[in-house]
Amino acid sequence: MGQETWTAVDDYVSGLLAPHDEALEAAIAASSEAGLPSIQVSPPQGKLLGLLARSIGARTALEFGTLGGYSTIWLGRALPADGRLVTLESDPAYAEVARANVERAGLGGLVEIRVGPALETLPELEEEGIGPFDLVFIDADKVNTPGYFTWSIERTRRGGLIVADNVVRDGRLVDEADEDPAIPAQRRFHEMLAAEPRVEATTIQTVGGKGYDGFSIALVTG
Ligand SMILES: C[S@@+](CC[C@H](N)C(=O)[O-])C[C@H]1O[C@@H](n2cnc3c(N)ncnc32)[C@H](O)[C@@H]1O
Repeated sequence: MGQETWTAVDDYVSGLLAPHDEALEAAIAASSEAGLPSIQVSPPQGKLLGLLARSIGARTALEFGTLGGYSTIWLGRALPADGRLVTLESDPAYAEVARANVERAGLGGLVEIRVGPALETLPELEEEGIGPFDLVFIDADKVNTPGYFTWSIERTRRGGLIVADNVVRDGRLVDEADEDPAIPAQRRFHEMLAAEPRVEATTIQTVGGKGYDGFSIALVTG
């Protein structure tokens, strides 16, 4: 049992529970044609993001890492028509692709794509008084996950959720000697989750079409 089985099960689950419609299919095709890396969430993970958003009645969301807007579409569809989803992307070419994908999905009025390194965009959001958010999805440069969490915890309402993707990284999360800066960053993030009295959090390991990884979910309780 391994990658082949994980992919087959993901395909089975996706076909029944998270099937692509035209807009999602077109988003993947356009992203691939434009040469974007295929590092978007899987269909079941996109569906999960939407279910989480709906389960807390989310109206506002913030996403770190837009890529081609695939997770953006799943999340945007879970918000009410007058909701707001701000998504941050450092690469202008990716953001262009995402903009077209989001428009095609009919979410142009709800989704706002901000281009630039997230740590530089966040002060702008603050100045403009954008937030607080009901749900935050952290899925950009993994080395900055702790910093994005620090910012988000101050700006997520009580009862809101902070979700972070790619926190397990083939199990390297537990390798204290791993020198890839993304690994100590994920360990620091977990220590922050453990020490932060304003959240209750857990991490779920995942296997699927994208391999072995995992995500953290933190409920803001205080
Ligand atoms: C894993 S991909 C996001 C996938 C997307 N959330 C999805 O599932 O469809 C990570 C994205 O973060 C972007 N990124 C990397 N560093 C960033 C930064 N400092 N600020 C904002 N975005 C960044 C990358 O260009 C890439 O598009």
